[in-house]
Amino acid sequence: MGKRIVVAIDGPAGAGKSTVARRLAEKLDILYIDSGAMYRAVAYWAAQTGVALDDMHRLEQLAAEARIEFSDGSSRVLLNGVEITDAIRTGEMASAASKVAAVPGVRRALVQRQREMSESASVVMEGRDIGTVVFPDADVKIFLDASRETRAMRRVIDLEAQGQAVAENDVVREIAERDTRDTTRSESPLVQAPDAVYVDTSGHSIDEVEAMLLKIVRERTSNGRELQR
Ligand code: DC
Repeated sequence: MGKRIVVAIDGPAGAGKSTVARRLAEKLDILYIDSGAMYRAVAYWAAQTGVALDDMHRLEQLAAEARIEFSDGSSRVLLNGVEITDAIRTGEMASAASKVAAVPGVRRALVQRQREMSESASVVMEGRDIGTVVFPDADVKIFLDASRETRAMRRVIDLEAQGQAVAENDVVREIAERDTRDTTRSESPLVQAPDAVYVDTSGHSIDEVEAMLLKIVRERTSNGRELQR
């Protein structure tokens, strides 16, 4: 059996992490985990049960009790057995997730789950703190970034593709607010790990970014041939 590898991909909203991480995992034929979906799931449950986003104690309880499952390579997300894939992809849930993610107890519960999920399998995991906190010893760390305009434009295209009407100004503001909250919170703020490879995806197609990342992974994992699945 080959070596288990962990590929950690971090970066701000709209840098292209989900699309590229999913494709990379498919190419390497290993597990893909979208950690942001877990924070969104807790935010969604809070909204459903009327828990306020500043009630740290109840939010921590929800995070500890939430049964979050992924299927079909993380393309479907289930919360306590109910599919919430589309429901968590709104701008409202993005903002709520960013608030929930600033609660230390929520992070503790979800980080533990993230480590458990990849205990025995190779994984590509993306988020904000994967290379710094969840897997500080990850074999490969990538910090994916793009200009704010590029990120906002991608978000608009994504939301429109899901049939959601969006005003560009609102998306720009939402991204700016999330950037500030995610990078300035005291618990596990979004920051590039010193040993992460910085990749700016502005002006590059998904295929190009995928090729760049595949090259980085292969260089660091003996050509990717001996991965434990
Ligand atoms: O990646 P995303 O947009 O689905 O993430 C939603 C929010 O969750 C994001 O604004 C910050 C938070 N998050 C986090 O704090 N840590 C992670 N590992 C992943 C997401």
